[in-house]
Amino acid sequence: MTKVWDGFIRGFHWLLVVGITVLYFSGEEGWLDLHFVVGYLLLALMITRMIWGIIGSDTAKLSSLFHHPKHIFAALKSKFSYAGHNPAGSVMVLLFFVLVFTQLISGLMTTDDILMEGPLVTYISYELAEIAGDIHRLNIDILLVAIAIHIVAIMVYRVKGVNLIKPLLTGKNDIDTAAPRMRKGWVAYVIFLLLVAFILYVWGLEPLNALL
Ligand code: HEM
Ligand code: HEM
Repeated sequence: MTKVWDGFIRGFHWLLVVGITVLYFSGEEGWLDLHFVVGYLLLALMITRMIWGIIGSDTAKLSSLFHHPKHIFAALKSKFSYAGHNPAGSVMVLLFFVLVFTQLISGLMTTDDILMEGPLVTYISYELAEIAGDIHRLNIDILLVAIAIHIVAIMVYRVKGVNLIKPLLTGKNDIDTAAPRMRKGWVAYVIFLLLVAFILYVWGLEPLNALL
């Protein structure tokens, strides 16, 4: 067994799942204080993931997510155990990063026209805030479709005999390639906590006080 996912990537994934679930329901229900606070936590998490994509383990590297289309199609058919995301999975991961950042940034520019407005609304025109709100309400549906495809793809791999979930829980896998270079996940969690403190201090005190 070789270590393929460090502690941060594993924690990141399941925190992302919980975060998006809470944001979806709080958005739909109009519980916007909770929505804003969790939105800021998710923003800190995603920024940490990008930093970890530069300084983190080999399997976390953003540069390892770009592949030639030939390899992407080949990976769809193979049962090869990769260290990290396979080239087809990498496309999905990149798509998630774009969709989640689109949701976060459009949220920062969205207002409910009553009580709550994202912290960037003050700096932009009313028209732009309206467009951001439309993007925020449309992009969530695209994100939901992407999540559905992601889960079906993981199930298809399982049927083919490739268990992708276990490595993402335990961090270890039997791989057919050389062991990747790993970094200590706690470093990323320190970066995450510093970003959480900073973003909540700058933008989050009001919704946080309303919640507590
Ligand atoms: C809100 C829902 C979800 C989102 C947004 C999401 C997003 C992601 C992202 C961004 C990655 C890449 C991780 C990284 O490199 O940082 C990933 C990988 C993965 N996800 Fe999810 N995920 C979701 C739900 C799930 C669920 C419910 C499962 C289990 C059934 C799952 C199983 C996996 C697995 C196994 C991988 C690793 C794939 C591989 O080995 O290449 N995900 N997911
Ligand atoms: C990935 C992160 C996020 C997700 C998944 C998400 C999801 C949602 C959803 C599903 C809604 C309901 C839309 C509807 O009424 O159809 C919503 C509304 C809203 N979100 Fe987010 N959101 C996210 C991040 C943010 C952030 C960071 C902010 C601002 C700090 C924000 C601000 C708002 C506002 C102001 C509304 C109310 C818009 C309205 O009244 O139409 N969101 N969000």
